[in-house]
Amino acid sequence: MPCIEIGGNYCLSQQEIDAFGHDQIPYASVFMMWGNVVFTHSGRSAITTAVHHLGLEGCKVFVPAFSCHSVTDAFLSCDCSVIYYPINCDLTANETELFRLMDEHNPSLLYVCPLFGFDTLSSLRKRYKEIQDKGIRIVEDVTHSLLSGFNTKTVDVVVCSLRKWLEMPDGGFVWGLKCFDTEDYYLTHQEQTEIVNNFIKASRLKLDYLTKGDESLKQIFLPLFYKNNEVFDDTSISCRMSSFSYEILSQADFKQIIEHRRVNYDFLLNHINNPLVDIIFKSLPAGVVPLYMPVYVGNGRRADLQKALINERLYCPVIWPTPPQVLTTCPAEYLRFHDDILSLVIDQRYDVSDMERLAWNINQFS
Ligand SMILES: Cc1ncc(COP(=O)(O)O)c(C=O)c1O
Repeated sequence: MPCIEIGGNYCLSQQEIDAFGHDQIPYASVFMMWGNVVFTHSGRSAITTAVHHLGLEGCKVFVPAFSCHSVTDAFLSCDCSVIYYPINCDLTANETELFRLMDEHNPSLLYVCPLFGFDTLSSLRKRYKEIQDKGIRIVEDVTHSLLSGFNTKTVDVVVCSLRKWLEMPDGGFVWGLKCFDTEDYYLTHQEQTEIVNNFIKASRLKLDYLTKGDESLKQIFLPLFYKNNEVFDDTSISCRMSSFSYEILSQADFKQIIEHRRVNYDFLLNHINNPLVDIIFKSLPAGVVPLYMPVYVGNGRRADLQKALINERLYCPVIWPTPPQVLTTCPAEYLRFHDDILSLVIDQRYDVSDMERLAWNINQFS
């Protein structure tokens, strides 16, 4: 059935609210099965856990100029100094400039992130060894590429925020930490119960809104989602992932998620035909599972298109608003395309009839 809106926060289904959260997952036995994966409450706490374990507090870290503010915040909370390297408009790293900057600044850590589920690191990845031979550790963030399964074997540490893929109240992971006492981590870190409780409450109200279409309910459930964002923003808090989220993760139907995302992306690829809208990744290679469909909106019209879509209850986010530190420290040419990108929602909550509506509204825009 078509949804009354597209985009917005994930929320739990009534079945999930009824089924999950009754049993306390025994951390030591269940989570320890995951070898050297450590489940954290957020992507940010995955990054800070990695930095502390590597003993790299206060180091110089390279972060792409096109990235989420939360990544910068995580490194800053470890007292790192963040230096930005440029990303090209095809969203690959500008390798010439990256290597020049590495020689100039001699960082200890390089943070990389394949974008939107596509392998924007395929070229840089071939040079990881060259980078590591300079004494630089590489942290790859698979938040966007979780289900595309690119080869991360040669990086030092992998981090991820799981909440971008599933209706999980919290969740992230670090993978690849050597000699990390996972059992001690779970014993000494608590769950974020406030986040779980807010998420369940907000989900109940959002479900009600989705069935009745009563806009006034948004005044109640949106503040609950925002409240959780504030908790995530506090990078001094480091928690383990909640057992509630673990239940969602362990029951997730990844086959269905992969299929929906690919079918939806493919539909938009074949049906968007507005000259103002330029799809960045114009093919969908086998194995790629897109997070969103990023597009360039021409003539400085991104805000207008986003607004026109919002009027139709189609909520396509800006990923990412440029972090303030990037705005103040980077040359203007690093930022050239940042204000033109809009991310079209293609996730598993929607089917082709929803994509038809999205494509139709995009094509009407002039
Ligand atoms: C690529 C990437 N990594 C990490 C994070 C931080 O994740 P979290 O919000 O779970 O802390 C984000 C947040 O948007 C992100 O986009």
